[in-house]
Amino acid sequence: MLDKNKVYELEIIDLGHSGEGIGKVNGFTVFVEGGIPGDLLKVKTNIVKKSYAVGVLLEIITPSPHRIQPICGISHRCGGCQIMHMEYQAQLDFKTVRVEETLKRIGKIDTKVLPTLGMENPYEYRNKAQFPVGLMSGKAVMGFYEKGSHTIVNTEYCHIQHPINEKIVKLIKEYIHQHKVSVYDEKTNMGLIRHIVTKVGYQTGEVMVVVVTNGKKLPHHQEMIQLLKENIEGLQSVVQNINEKNTNVIFGKETITLYGRDYIVDYIGNLKFNISAQSFFQVNPMQTKVLYEKALEYADLKGDETVFDIYCGIGTISLFLAQKAKKVYGVEVVEAAILDAKENADINGMSNTEFYVGEAEMVVPELYKKGIKADVVVVDPPRKGCEETVLDTIVSMAPDRVVYVSCNPATLARDLAYLQEKGYKAGSVQPVDMFPHTGHVECCVRLYKEER
Ligand SMILES: C[S@@+](CC[C@H](N)C(=O)[O-])C[C@H]1O[C@@H](n2cnc3c(N)ncnc32)[C@H](O)[C@@H]1O
Repeated sequence: MLDKNKVYELEIIDLGHSGEGIGKVNGFTVFVEGGIPGDLLKVKTNIVKKSYAVGVLLEIITPSPHRIQPICGISHRCGGCQIMHMEYQAQLDFKTVRVEETLKRIGKIDTKVLPTLGMENPYEYRNKAQFPVGLMSGKAVMGFYEKGSHTIVNTEYCHIQHPINEKIVKLIKEYIHQHKVSVYDEKTNMGLIRHIVTKVGYQTGEVMVVVVTNGKKLPHHQEMIQLLKENIEGLQSVVQNINEKNTNVIFGKETITLYGRDYIVDYIGNLKFNISAQSFFQVNPMQTKVLYEKALEYADLKGDETVFDIYCGIGTISLFLAQKAKKVYGVEVVEAAILDAKENADINGMSNTEFYVGEAEMVVPELYKKGIKADVVVVDPPRKGCEETVLDTIVSMAPDRVVYVSCNPATLARDLAYLQEKGYKAGSVQPVDMFPHTGHVECCVRLYKEER
């Protein structure tokens, strides 16, 4: 046990799930924000619990050989990037090792993990930005939340976002100041402008600006549109979303189109997608293509297969698969996403798809009961992984191949162990770096039926 508010020296040996450094003092685990493996640090404990402590970094005694000066001057304060101060190749190596160790520790899965596929340029990759708007000393500020708080770090440029955002933020600030438009204060639930959300199509260059307001009337919005139109090439859509609730949730229910369309268009590979203000679309389009191509490779389709895409979202993976399969069934719990999936299938002329809304644990067994069986199954569940009912039904369908796409190595390990017990063995495991400079890692796994 360690003492609170005491200074200790320790070496960082690992990273936690949110990218925080992990070290040991006399065998006791200490989490240190900003520490990376190989650092020798002086830290002061500010939280001490039964099984772990949290320390504040006071001094870097000896830096890790992988420590670099991050390109962003505020990355140590901003909650967006946790490991930008680590060389990119070291980030990728770390992610590979994390996946390998987690599969071994939780799932007792001893399989080869391939080196994490990274980006050639791991910056400016995000196609969507959400800037909270607030007041600081009477002036409107926009930026990102500080780590673990709701204090806004006032910034115009973010190195992992598309560069067009810097221009948009400046223009919106200009509009707010020029027309003295009020900004939202979450303590009093007063003031108008709450968030600016931007979306950019990387292939098309189309831009959407969403102004989230606490109230319907947006004064001088024509002037705001004019300012954006004159300065933002590719502007296709300006929408207002109204959220009058005292909540952390960004969007409210009502959305009004102020200029142009209510969606932008972008492509992943040769597939076209309409993206509206609230519809989910992967934020790193370059790596999404890498991930989906891997899923397609592992699905190894010949053209005569029936495929299930379970947890299909807006049907992006389904449409990738439908190009090579006889029939694809997509299952997803969010109704709006299924409406998008159907529309996306239409605009791409994919008539060999069918989408079902509902919980996978209900819908997949129902489809199976109706006699629909999969030759190949792809699952891409949320962080908590697949429900056992889903895994059991997959096993009953006895597909030749299963492809598991996962954003959480821990639940992936649990589910792979379950499937292995029932006759599906994990083959290749391919991590993909969808979110450079953060602790997150995505994986694509090929499973095959063992002959018993
Ligand atoms: C990691 S996302 C994958 C989305 C999609 N495959 C993609 O790449 O864009 C997981 C999806 O599962 C959906 N989901 C969560 N729980 C579900 C459930 N019980 N049944 C079906 N879908 C669910 C979420 O709404 C989300 O769209």
